[in-house]
Amino acid sequence: MQKGKFITIDGVEGAGKSTQINFICGYLKDKGINVALTREPGGTELGEKIRTLLLSPKTKSMHSDTELLLMFAARNEHIHAKIMPILEKGDWVLSDRFTDASYAYQGGGRGLDVDRIAKLEEWVLQDFTPDMTLLLDVPVELGMSRVESRGEKDRIELEDMDFFNRVRDAYISRSKQFPDRIKLIDSSETVEHTKEQIKIILDSL
Ligand SMILES: Nc1ncnc2c1ncn2[C@@H]1O[C@H](COP(=O)(O)OP(=O)(O)OP(=O)(O)O)[C@@H](O)[C@H]1O
Ligand SMILES: [Mg+2]
Repeated sequence: MQKGKFITIDGVEGAGKSTQINFICGYLKDKGINVALTREPGGTELGEKIRTLLLSPKTKSMHSDTELLLMFAARNEHIHAKIMPILEKGDWVLSDRFTDASYAYQGGGRGLDVDRIAKLEEWVLQDFTPDMTLLLDVPVELGMSRVESRGEKDRIELEDMDFFNRVRDAYISRSKQFPDRIKLIDSSETVEHTKEQIKIILDSL
């Protein structure tokens, strides 16, 4: 039985996920909560190998369904080998991306049928779902400009603006579909402004 809380953070490139994760972790620790950080795709030894297959620009071609299946294969490992055991111990888990990213990137971005993603979600996760998802929202151009100086892009980051605008739109529609779980946060202003919104949400948990 799950005792800890499972929090996920999602959003387009440069939305500020990695920046805010450090803050969230410190904020929860100050409240006496043990929180484990993890990320998707990845989070386990096998999952990180799948991440390399998924994100390396050396992977020249990959069918969109293969991409979706690899994301869920890594996620299955992640849930069983890492997330659930931590939650059962009573600690919290904070994941940089989770299933909403499959709906956004493979659904919105690649245009895969949402019903097929939902079937896969049901198959892999059953009724396991985050207790709360922080969706950091930023216009695609702004997010991209924040991460521009980062150097070589991964295989998915090489997609065009239209792709990422579809990703953003899909994230926003998911937040409307699941308003209780997915908290839409404006991350287009300062780091501090985003932090303040997150603080209010965390205090309500
Ligand atoms: N609200 C903000 N205002 C201005 N700059 C920000 C803000 N949030 C983050 N940044 C800066 O933007 C850059 C990208 O942020 P970060 O790495 O946290 O994004 P990310 O969502 O994790 O991106 P990715 O999806 O590529 O991992 C960092 O240099 C960070 O300092
Ligand atoms: Mg990041």
